Amino acid sequence: MRAVRFDRFGEAGEVLRLVEDQPMPQRKPGEVLVKVAATSVNPIDYKIRRGDFPRLFVALPKVPGGDVAGVVAEADPGSSFKPGDRVMALADGYRPWRAWGTYCEFVSLPEAHLARIPEGMSDEEAAALPLVSLTVMQALEVSNLSTGDRLLVHGASGGVGVMAVQLAKARGLYVLGTCSFSNADYVKELGCDRVIDYTKERFEDACGDAPLDCVIDGVGGDYEPRSLRLLKRSGTYVSLRAGDTNAAILVATLKGKLLGLLRLGPHYYSSGVSPNGRQLAEVAEVWKEGKLKINVQTVLPLVRAAEAQELVAARHVRGKVVLRVSKAEPEETGKESTSPAGKPE
Ligand SMILES: NC(=O)c1ccc[n+]([C@@H]2O[C@H](COP(=O)([O-])OP(=O)(O)OC[C@H]3O[C@@H](n4cnc5c(N)ncnc54)[C@H](OP(=O)(O)O)[C@@H]3O)[C@@H](O)[C@H]2O)c1
Repeated sequence: MRAVRFDRFGEAGEVLRLVEDQPMPQRKPGEVLVKVAATSVNPIDYKIRRGDFPRLFVALPKVPGGDVAGVVAEADPGSSFKPGDRVMALADGYRPWRAWGTYCEFVSLPEAHLARIPEGMSDEEAAALPLVSLTVMQALEVSNLSTGDRLLVHGASGGVGVMAVQLAKARGLYVLGTCSFSNADYVKELGCDRVIDYTKERFEDACGDAPLDCVIDGVGGDYEPRSLRLLKRSGTYVSLRAGDTNAAILVATLKGKLLGLLRLGPHYYSSGVSPNGRQLAEVAEVWKEGKLKINVQTVLPLVRAAEAQELVAARHVRGKVVLRVSKAEPEETGKESTSPAGKPE
């Protein structure tokens, strides 16, 4: 089958290769073989490829990617999924130490990781959903928030942020979100109660005197200590920098976790997102109720995976960049891009 993979760390255009001879995955009992229609690019994909994670723990050669939208090709007799069903999932293969991600034509996944794609949702929209929405579902679950609680989302126009704003509003939270001026109207339309343009005002000033119940931080750096100061002692700080390994992040994470454990600071949550079909089905319900918009900024064919990763690595995508995987690849939609990408081997 076809897949995009890399066997050394480096620039996207130099190391990502489209290959035609990737072996087919062998489905195990309890798993479902899925023919991938589309996948999407998440920051972890380019971080692993660049060598940002400890290189010893990265499986090479690696097929990047975690998001899947496609159709069931094969399942156990008696499985709740049958060939032809449209499904979506987060695949564990997104993790650095797994060789097999989702930039390829087939994946085999545990049945519990899958959810059905609701009628009316396109493959591209479904592919944009799993990793970012599950990140938010899991953050909200550990934060134990109630209606009216105040949540601050950093990076509110990004892949995770867009989901955080909408899934939080669907639960009746009061949501503040940071983004630049160019995305402010868009984030407002998603339902954000207070949009903070980080280029013009300090988020501390915009948050006012009432302490926050939760911060979901997709930006990090100095946002972390500044946000921790705004939280209630009983609140939760969700760091999305799990796995990022520069020394400053590691020290800040350890300090935050220790203070949280000793109850000298807010609860500090930092963990990698996990596959979860049940939570993904809950997200699909929110979408069916019309409370969740999925913004696919750009769709590119699999062969242009390198270009797609470069786009995301620029850190100003609004919503998501999706890769079309199945053979009948449509022309690129959305933003025009001209640079060359992954070279066939
Ligand atoms: N731990 C986990 O399980 C987990 C899961 C998912 C993601 N993550 C991590 O979370 C981070 C965000 O992920 P993502 O998918 O949302 O990334 P993304 O889509 O690339 O985020 C891009 C967005 O960030 C905004 N942004 C950039 N600089 C900002 C700043 N200084 N203040 C506020 N917003 C800013 C941009 O808005 P403007 O263009 O308006 O500036 C843009 O819309 C990444 O580091 C990712 O690796 C971790």
